[in-house]
Amino acid sequence: MAEPMLKVEGLTVYYGAIRALRGISFEVAAGEIITLIGSNGAGKSTALHAISNIIRKTAGKVFFNGNEISAVPPDRIVSAGLVQVPEGRRIFANLSVRDNLEMGAYSRRAVSSAGRQAVRADMEKVFTIFPRLKERIRQVAGTLSGGEQQMLAMGRSLMASPRLLLLDEPSMGLSPILVDEIFSVVKGINETGTTILLVEQNAYKALALASRAYIFETGEIVKSGFSGDLMKDDAVKAAYLGG
Ligand SMILES: Nc1ncnc2c1ncn2[C@@H]1O[C@H](COP(=O)(O)OP(=O)(O)O)[C@@H](O)[C@H]1O
Ligand SMILES: [Mg+2]
Repeated sequence: MAEPMLKVEGLTVYYGAIRALRGISFEVAAGEIITLIGSNGAGKSTALHAISNIIRKTAGKVFFNGNEISAVPPDRIVSAGLVQVPEGRRIFANLSVRDNLEMGAYSRRAVSSAGRQAVRADMEKVFTIFPRLKERIRQVAGTLSGGEQQMLAMGRSLMASPRLLLLDEPSMGLSPILVDEIFSVVKGINETGTTILLVEQNAYKALALASRAYIFETGEIVKSGFSGDLMKDDAVKAAYLGG
């Protein structure tokens, strides 16, 4: 097998005395959609934060395209093409849609006229994926609906030209129609060549979209495999797919 795009080895994270991750290991190959499934508090967001290096790892290593990034500053991880869309969106509520999108491109912003042109071209690409954002380009982000805010958070991350996109519960709190829309956008982003690591509580939809999955329970990966196999697994069905 070729070198995986993302390789996580023995990742352990403590919050004070609480061990949130207990030496987890997993891999994502280029082009894949991989999902991390598990109940609330299982450690999924912690895993994404530790990969992005926005929280401290107690132990373990992370490799991106074969290079160890365990100690690389978060902004340089983003520039290298590994970009996280945080849980709960975290858009800049007081800024316009356009300004939020431009913030996503900050690592390349205004360095040259070619850089600015690339940012404009990327913004047009984001508008092809999310036409609703173009209609609302001057709107203050805090006044967008929940679904639109999720689109903005994803659009902002796409402005950083990710090769690997980490998505933390993008469907959380959305109506069923918007959930379907977000899942179909994730599929579309993957089809244009971006590898996806998707954290979801909507296990059924996540397994239907992803080729493989890792199941988290209290800071450990208790099961992993091809989505199709996991969907037929009795324990998985009982715990995550409503029996
Ligand atoms: N900043 C924090 N400080 C202390 N404990 C935390 C913090 N963030 C998460 N935790 C704890 O770590 C565990 C894993 O949380 P999290 O990674 O957010 O789970 P998930 O994303 O799977 O719901 C939980 O027990 C949670 O309460
Ligand atoms: Mg979480």
